[in-house]
Amino acid sequence: MVEILWLGHGSFQWKLAGGEVIVLDPWLSGPSYPAGHVFERIDAILITHGHFDHCPDAVELAKKFRAPVVANFEISLWLSSKGVETASGMNKGGSQKVGPITVTMTHAFHSSGILDDGKVIYGGEAAGYVVELPDGRKIYFAGDTDVFSEMELIGEIHRPELAFLPIGDLYTMSPREAALACRLLQPKKVIPMHYGTFPPLTGRPEQLAELVRDLGVEVWPLEIGKPVTW
Ligand code: NI
Ligand code: MN
Repeated sequence: MVEILWLGHGSFQWKLAGGEVIVLDPWLSGPSYPAGHVFERIDAILITHGHFDHCPDAVELAKKFRAPVVANFEISLWLSSKGVETASGMNKGGSQKVGPITVTMTHAFHSSGILDDGKVIYGGEAAGYVVELPDGRKIYFAGDTDVFSEMELIGEIHRPELAFLPIGDLYTMSPREAALACRLLQPKKVIPMHYGTFPPLTGRPEQLAELVRDLGVEVWPLEIGKPVTW
């Protein structure tokens, strides 16, 4: 069992059955971050890419909780340069065990520059993750991405039952591409993310649900700040 809490935009907290807390792409100052949310514990932080709405807040959280931060090699070097002693760099296709979960880094079709003191620093390549839970179930967390045909390989290799897919449009895929992603990945459930934060992020879960009606994939829109269990 995992308790999933949407922290707005592309940010999530997963609380595992053993009480461990995994944080994905924290954005504490985001406009849709739930007011009053406080982390009581963090056991691992996963960062998909270097953009300001996904990466920099990991510095503060990693220091506060001494939590391992999984990120690509370049971002892990940047985190270390900011005083994070727990960065755990990796690259695509590789897996590592972080506390009770095993994470595999996958491809993402996006950019990853890190905005640092007004300059953009090379942040490696954007990534996604397949996370294996202690109960053996697997979750695909796409991060920011367009659809790409290798999603079929992710489906074939890992068989994730649950997928987190961006649908907002403009900076990521829209429901049109996300529907194709569902066809390639064949998850049972999809949690849409990275929409509604700003007016230009126009994609809506209902649009995705309509497009995958024939597939038997359940589109599962979450409410920000309201935990659900899976
Ligand atoms: Ni991005
Ligand atoms: Mn983003």
